[in-house]
Amino acid sequence: MEVIDGNRIAAALIAELKAEVAAITGRKPCIALVRVGDDPASVSYVKKKGQTAAEIGIESRILLPPAAIGQAALERLVESLNGDAGVDGILVQSPLPGGLDERAVFGRIAPEKDVDGFHPVNLGKVVQGDESGFSPCTPAGIMELLARSAVNLEGKHVVVLGRSLIVGRPAALLALQNRAGANATVTVCHSRTLDLPSLARQADVLIAAIGRPGFVTADLVKPGAVVIDVGINRVADPARKSGHRLVGDVDFPSVSPIASMITPVPGGVGPMTVAMLMRNTVKAFRLRRGG
Ligand code: GUN
Repeated sequence: MEVIDGNRIAAALIAELKAEVAAITGRKPCIALVRVGDDPASVSYVKKKGQTAAEIGIESRILLPPAAIGQAALERLVESLNGDAGVDGILVQSPLPGGLDERAVFGRIAPEKDVDGFHPVNLGKVVQGDESGFSPCTPAGIMELLARSAVNLEGKHVVVLGRSLIVGRPAALLALQNRAGANATVTVCHSRTLDLPSLARQADVLIAAIGRPGFVTADLVKPGAVVIDVGINRVADPARKSGHRLVGDVDFPSVSPIASMITPVPGGVGPMTVAMLMRNTVKAFRLRRGG
């Protein structure tokens, strides 16, 4: 069994982007990071995104409107970033505080600055297999992780657990693309799926993105399968100073002995999401500048 080292693979990608950005003359790429309110997980994700941008040489602007900002004002904030020529990419950290319509906010972001890939135009391009837009970062990061781990999806059965807009659905679409490295046969399971375990057990590549700690136990996994754990769940751990630790959707102790490859949590998919966001930001910069 091989543990796929997402930190190492993300670091390689970040180093490539750093070299690419260093070669850019004049203004560097810039990403606006919008965090509404102070959800603790969002605080740490946005901080990480800002740090990674700085490491690469991408400028970041962090905007921290209060949870009470209101829908109209948040959409106006997005519009002002759309109109700001110095901003190449816009990210609004999900989840938004209650009462705000996330889909409407994502839909306000100019598609050419939508480095998260959640705008209907970019999601539509993913459906069409048109690579001129932006793919959502976590699913794109999974594809990159697999490619750089020499896992070829061609003809394989990929089973995705979860149908969220951010991960499950786009992950299924990317695995299904008619192109080298994809071409998988895809099954998507969700909360209403009948007999999820028997479907999961058919997976050559199992992608767990349901947000339930330790949900995938060994009895859901075919021996030799590749297991990608997208879950980031905080569970109480009184032994830690923080009072919690992060666990995935996969029960690593029972699954790792039978998988051929598996991603850990933390240090698997998570770092790839951030790296792909930076790649999208550089892509947005180039597209906006004209090549
Ligand atoms: N929350 C969890 N994942 C993501 C992501 O990829 N982008 C944004 N904006 N929010 C998230």
